[in-house]
Amino acid sequence: MRVIISRKIRERTLDRTLRRKDITMKATGILAPTRMMPLILDGLRATGKLHCLWEQADPEAYLSAHADQIGAIATGAHLAVDGAYMSRFPNLKLVANFGVGYDTVDAKWAGKNGVIVTNTPDVLTEEVADTALGLLLMTIRELPQSERWLRAGHWVSKGPYPLTANTMRGKTIGILALGRIGKAIATRCEAFGLTIAYHGRSKQDDVSYRYYDSLVDMAREVDILMSVAPGGASTKHIINAEVLKALGPQGVLINIGRGSVVDESALAKALREKIIFAAGLDVFENEPHVPADLMACENAVLLPHVGSASIHTRNLMGQLVVDNVLAFLSGKHPLTPVAETPFTHW
Ligand code: 8YV
Repeated sequence: MRVIISRKIRERTLDRTLRRKDITMKATGILAPTRMMPLILDGLRATGKLHCLWEQADPEAYLSAHADQIGAIATGAHLAVDGAYMSRFPNLKLVANFGVGYDTVDAKWAGKNGVIVTNTPDVLTEEVADTALGLLLMTIRELPQSERWLRAGHWVSKGPYPLTANTMRGKTIGILALGRIGKAIATRCEAFGLTIAYHGRSKQDDVSYRYYDSLVDMAREVDILMSVAPGGASTKHIINAEVLKALGPQGVLINIGRGSVVDESALAKALREKIIFAAGLDVFENEPHVPADLMACENAVLLPHVGSASIHTRNLMGQLVVDNVLAFLSGKHPLTPVAETPFTHW
């Protein structure tokens, strides 16, 4: 009788201990579904918990076998981390995104399902703003075209490159999405003597730039439309044929945000038919593929998504991904959770 009672007590105690452990123990495996920059991989590998999916002979089988061990996913720009993907990992707590834009991650789903999403804001702001101004100057003053002229020997054989029909002088720029990067662009534009306006969800009281509550109205009144807008369903193709027509034959479009914001076939038509003057694009809807009809436009300057692409800035972004994962592993507050997933606890 005594033996039975003490065994029961022992079992109950063990059961309680295990349950408590269940509450405090978390899955700490880190999944990298696709190859990432060495700084990130080295930082995550040092934890001894990294699973590199692309190194597995049978990634699907590997995922099924290890899904319950994964507490964090480190991801880059192109993989769709949607609800279906995240729900494969029953103990998932963190998706650490490389990039300030996180349109490939379903942050709303994550917020509803106890997953924190982090991104890499601030550290890339000035770099992207620099690129935006460079791209604007390249586009409006035809700098790549004039460089091609020189390299082709035309300066010697045909004479100087023709005077450019457009200029920054006396122009107004309309910024679509005046967030951190948009404001850094605006500061630079002030130094260039441009007049600044903006369009976004709401008027901001801390800036004196003119606000438009309608994108098409702003496009009609500015000379340059600078898009810094994030991707996702709410911004898909908002720069469409109507907006381009409103921008007009002297108008210049610059896109440094996300490619999906622009209707690329409407843009190619607008460039071909001189409905707008020129476009400078750092981002495309289906990267790394650029539509042939955009490639064919001599009045388009096309960059391969290099907005933040310096070693200096990419290292800062990569370190932020690592630091967010380390914060998770040590139970600390994530450094840069996105708005849809405010942090309360792990
Ligand atoms: C990055 C970007 O190059 O941060 C972003 O949202 O678009 C870029 O600066 C990209 O995300 C990295 O793949």
